[in-house]
Amino acid sequence: MSSEEQRIAYADQGWCLAPRTLGQDALAKVRSSVRAIAATERPEVVYEEGTRTVRALHGCHRYDEVCAELVRHPVLLDLAEALIGGPVYLYQFKVNIKSPRQGRKWPWHQDYAFWAHEDGMPEPDAVNIALHLDEVHESNGPLTVLTGSHTLGLVTTGGTARGRDWQDHVSARLTHTIPEDEIPALTAKFPPRSLLGPAGTVAAFHPSIVHSSTDNTSADRRAVLLLTYNSVTNTPTRLTRPAFLVDPDSTPVRRLANALT
Ligand code: SIN
Ligand code: MN
Repeated sequence: MSSEEQRIAYADQGWCLAPRTLGQDALAKVRSSVRAIAATERPEVVYEEGTRTVRALHGCHRYDEVCAELVRHPVLLDLAEALIGGPVYLYQFKVNIKSPRQGRKWPWHQDYAFWAHEDGMPEPDAVNIALHLDEVHESNGPLTVLTGSHTLGLVTTGGTARGRDWQDHVSARLTHTIPEDEIPALTAKFPPRSLLGPAGTVAAFHPSIVHSSTDNTSADRRAVLLLTYNSVTNTPTRLTRPAFLVDPDSTPVRRLANALT
């Protein structure tokens, strides 16, 4: 698929699979960094509520060199720039680790609801690039997007009030969710699609696409690394959340040295 066809698919569906996957060596390095970071105690490491099971890692590019280099990897950066149509910087870096049988869901939501209401991001002119660190299959809690729902703009959510604190943006009890009773009408109009694939798969999804994922009911871990690249012309108007959730450094990624190989 040419990058023009890629842009058309993304504009139409609100998501697309990348033409390339991440190589085995780079993948092994990232998995090893993720394992090491998950074993540390720091605010960036978030646990499933009431447990010591790691749910997510945040802002890893700020303190781990492999993760910093991953942000500049051409498989990810070329796709982000092609879909945004210009220079980008890294807005958010997270790894959502769904542990076997313990990883909890992400309720239905739109990412742009958080970025608009919490951070004052002017436009949904950013893109999420998801990198599978494990095989993602139907039973380990795949990310499920409603194809075409990004065209709705922001749908009714828990309101525009800001969350109590950032913990409400990273737990299974999210703020800015879409009420469950609105989901059947949305799924009737916008077909759900689970983003499946082996480790190394790369996919993009739009800030306004409606998405969720279920609990991991399987014996397999489902770790997905999510990079949000934002247009350099779309910086947020409020920087009130921790830097590991919203990076205040808007230097274009292209200008940074050393990509992961
Ligand atoms: C997930 O990791 O399944 C959900 C990620 C997200 O909502 O951005
Ligand atoms: Mn999301």
